[in-house]
Amino acid sequence: MNGRLVPESEAVVPFLTAGLHYGMGVFEGIRCYDTADGPAVFRLRDHVLRLVASAKTLGFRELPYDEATLSAAIHETISANALRACYIRPVIFLAEGGMNLNIDTGRPHVGIAVWPWKEFHGEGSLDAGIRVNVSSYTRHHPNIMMTRAKISGNYVNSFLAKTESVRLGFDDAVLLDPDGYVAECTGENLFVVTRGRIITPPVAGILEGITRDTVITLARDAGLTVVEERIVRDRLYDADEVFLSGTAAEVIGVREVDFRTIGSGSIGPITRTVQQAFRQTVRGEHHRSPEWLEPVLPLDDEAEAKILRA
Ligand SMILES: Cc1ncc(COP(=O)(O)O)c(C=O)c1O
Repeated sequence: MNGRLVPESEAVVPFLTAGLHYGMGVFEGIRCYDTADGPAVFRLRDHVLRLVASAKTLGFRELPYDEATLSAAIHETISANALRACYIRPVIFLAEGGMNLNIDTGRPHVGIAVWPWKEFHGEGSLDAGIRVNVSSYTRHHPNIMMTRAKISGNYVNSFLAKTESVRLGFDDAVLLDPDGYVAECTGENLFVVTRGRIITPPVAGILEGITRDTVITLARDAGLTVVEERIVRDRLYDADEVFLSGTAAEVIGVREVDFRTIGSGSIGPITRTVQQAFRQTVRGEHHRSPEWLEPVLPLDDEAEAKILRA
């Protein structure tokens, strides 16, 4: 928290924190994977760049830490918790003022948490696939929220949709954009497979997922065709395969949309190919792994001393 390693019970914010009241914060979701060469963070540089870009989009003019310091702090937080695989959550939020809705009257605080997080959609979901519905909520219009930024307040839209879907008995929600085209899910980008082609919505109005980019690269490496094209809702219904990508969800198949079975009702062959390539990549077993995996650095003496003091 703001440069100090503290136990979870001390990682708290005062009640009068504007970030809490108004969603004035930006965050990242990053994963560290257990590889044969030890724990390694997947695409850390890209995530830290997106975090800083989100902070700029939100309106922060100056951050207390630069990209290198934020990355080093992420390494330190993982090592201090002695985790081989984990989810990583850095947050930059407005504190010390800003209750008048002017970001310039407060200051950014930074916290980083890590925790073990296996299958985001529940045990066995990566193999079985999930069931989704098209949400009654529309994705943000890009001039209502800054949709390319990972802004805390944007996630009200996601949790309204996710809670509704789960209460209806689904695992997740597909959100349509304000024009009625498929945008993305609550925390995942979406892909459709039709007659051997992988189709995904263009980047306008969605969060440009780092896993999405990984999937596109790995699929093209494997000789598959990937196109970015607007997707109408009924294209989901008669798709051969539908799958999602996201740091938390990883690459997961969809077996049902709005009570329509997708393909044979189990994970399709193209989804499997992409899922397997992704698994190999994050485990350090793919030719792309070295460019995307950053081995976690052990704690230096100063950090060890910080833990002892904490
Ligand atoms: C709304 C939304 N779309 C897509 C994604 C997938 O992005 P990434 O692959 O970078 O985790 C996320 C998760 O960060 C998200 O919250």
